[in-house]
Amino acid sequence: MSDLEAQTREMLQAVSDAADLAALEAVRIAVLGKKGTLTELMKGLGAMSVEERKIKGPVLNGARDQLTAAIAARAQALNATALNARLAQERIDVTLPARPEMRGAIHPVSQVIDEVIAIFGDMGFSVAEGPDIESDFYNFTALNIPPEHPARQMHDTFYFNEKPGGERLLLRTHTSPVQIRSMEKSGPPLRIIAPGRTYRCDSDMTHTPMFHQVEGLVIDETAHMGHLKGCLIEFCKAFFEVDNVRMRFRPSHFPFTEPSAEVDIGCRRRGGELRIGEGEDWLEILGCGMVHPKVLRHGGIDPDKYQGFAFGMGIDRLAMLKYGIPDLRDFFEADLRWLRHYGFAPLDIPSLPGGLSR
Ligand code: PHE
Repeated sequence: MSDLEAQTREMLQAVSDAADLAALEAVRIAVLGKKGTLTELMKGLGAMSVEERKIKGPVLNGARDQLTAAIAARAQALNATALNARLAQERIDVTLPARPEMRGAIHPVSQVIDEVIAIFGDMGFSVAEGPDIESDFYNFTALNIPPEHPARQMHDTFYFNEKPGGERLLLRTHTSPVQIRSMEKSGPPLRIIAPGRTYRCDSDMTHTPMFHQVEGLVIDETAHMGHLKGCLIEFCKAFFEVDNVRMRFRPSHFPFTEPSAEVDIGCRRRGGELRIGEGEDWLEILGCGMVHPKVLRHGGIDPDKYQGFAFGMGIDRLAMLKYGIPDLRDFFEADLRWLRHYGFAPLDIPSLPGGLSR
């Protein structure tokens, strides 16, 4: 075996002995670097006779190619080993429960919407939706509030600019338009709730320009006022998680229900505190009544065959009462300290068997 062959073998051995990438790089420099063994040998070619060079040249080039390939192969193998070791070390068990130090929280409004859905879901209601931007027809006319009706002024409506055809869209002032949309879409019998955002130009401790309502609608051939009352009492007991809630049904008027009532919940307001079930104050939380025959007709339902009840509740008001939050405006301030204080754990999903709020 020639000297060169022996040297090449030694160098190849060093390459395969390199235990990591740093060691391999050291071998590469020792062999192919500026002063590397092979580089030095190749420098010698210049001083050789033409004959000698013809023989040694290809041999040296062959050795260099062999070593370059061996180094690349070894680097690849070492990289793969390093990656596998890292993957093994950084392995995450995605089936583990979430880590307790998580920081996000569920806003009381979202929490209350989930609670309301859980309660009515248990009573057989399904969830319906409608758009925030409504037409005059769905928000008013179909609900028996024709143009020039005084109730239109009472709603402090936000209107959009008039369209070329004269139509003016608006931000819905209540969730009641979803009544009509559901009647049109599914027809009777109906048992739906429709939670969502509503808008009125109004702002104080218990009013904000954007707020939340949940609409309820039951249509069949026999539903009556007694069912309405029972349904709402049942809801309030489940929602406030008490056996008895002080409630007051007051006769009232809505163009889309006849007869109509408003419901107040007993509470006490003292200083910055708000308590439910005590005290002499009342907070209005909902309007309700038997669906007006004209409304049924607007929704394509025959009022001689079908009847039913509807209600509209203020979700933010429910949240204030249940969780003792005194000022409604704070709900929408996006103050992190407030959210941490009043927020809910994201993984505690409200359900009747599991508990609504914990
Ligand atoms: N839409 C009424 C409001 O916003 C509430 C309501 C809904 C009343 C359904 C009766 C029936 O005040």
